Amino acid sequence: METVLITGANKGIGLELVRGFAASGRHVIACCRAPGEASDLQAIAAESGEVEVHEVHVSDGASVAALAKAVGDRAIDILISNAGMAGPGFQHQGLADMDYDGWAETFAVNTMAPLRVLQAFRPNLAKGTNARAVTVTSQMGAIGFDMPVMFAYCSSKGAVNKVMRLAAPELKRDGIAVALVHPGFVKTDMGGPGAEITPEASAAGLIPVIDALTLDDSPCFKTWEGNDHVW
Ligand SMILES: NC(=O)c1ccc[n+]([C@@H]2O[C@H](COP(=O)([O-])OP(=O)(O)OC[C@H]3O[C@@H](n4cnc5c(N)ncnc54)[C@H](OP(=O)(O)O)[C@@H]3O)[C@@H](O)[C@H]2O)c1
Repeated sequence: METVLITGANKGIGLELVRGFAASGRHVIACCRAPGEASDLQAIAAESGEVEVHEVHVSDGASVAALAKAVGDRAIDILISNAGMAGPGFQHQGLADMDYDGWAETFAVNTMAPLRVLQAFRPNLAKGTNARAVTVTSQMGAIGFDMPVMFAYCSSKGAVNKVMRLAAPELKRDGIAVALVHPGFVKTDMGGPGAEITPEASAAGLIPVIDALTLDDSPCFKTWEGNDHVW
């Protein structure tokens, strides 16, 4: 049975990835900031029997280290860094007005944390079968995405794309594939009610895309529909 570790698992796309992977016979290590408040996730865990819930604050090194200790030396086949934030308010991350502390926090969560989590679980992935390190990025991180809004968010996602590409060659030698995935414009707390697709549809698209990834694809940037995205 494959083991999948997912961050940001309490709501939105992460929650639906947990539900979908568990429903398709995987063991899921579901990680979120506040397990005691994650009632939807706890309900999936109670029903499934193959979902374990752990606490992690992805931008806190000690918290990621504690998670790695709790998980131990088990093999992980799929690591999904999904936790992310939109950054400062829309009006405060642009040319006219930038919240620099908020930008730094956005980088800590969206750019640095995926590398921190990947470092922590690299030994587990190295024991995995067809191991895949997947980061949920955004089309807004593509260099050619010419919508001049949300400078903090867009730059954090562009940077995580670059970081994962940089990590890919060395990880390939360990047998670990690297993928960035764009989940669509999704009706979550982040995407808002006016977004295009449900989190259920996003996860239903992403899961077969992630399942189909092999080392030959690494590094890649894929959409939730399985298309290649331009970097
Ligand atoms: N929605 C979209 O249209 C869209 C489009 C492109 C990419 N994405 C990406 O998809 C991913 C999931 O987003 P979503 O739409 O599902 O948004 P969401 O419903 O707001 O969920 C975000 C998740 O990230 C977690 N998180 C935020 N900061 C964290 C931190 N410091 N430590 C640990 N967890 C943290 C949240 O936990 P808490 O509940 O504790 O805050 C939550 O579980 C993100 O990486 C996002 O950038 C979303």
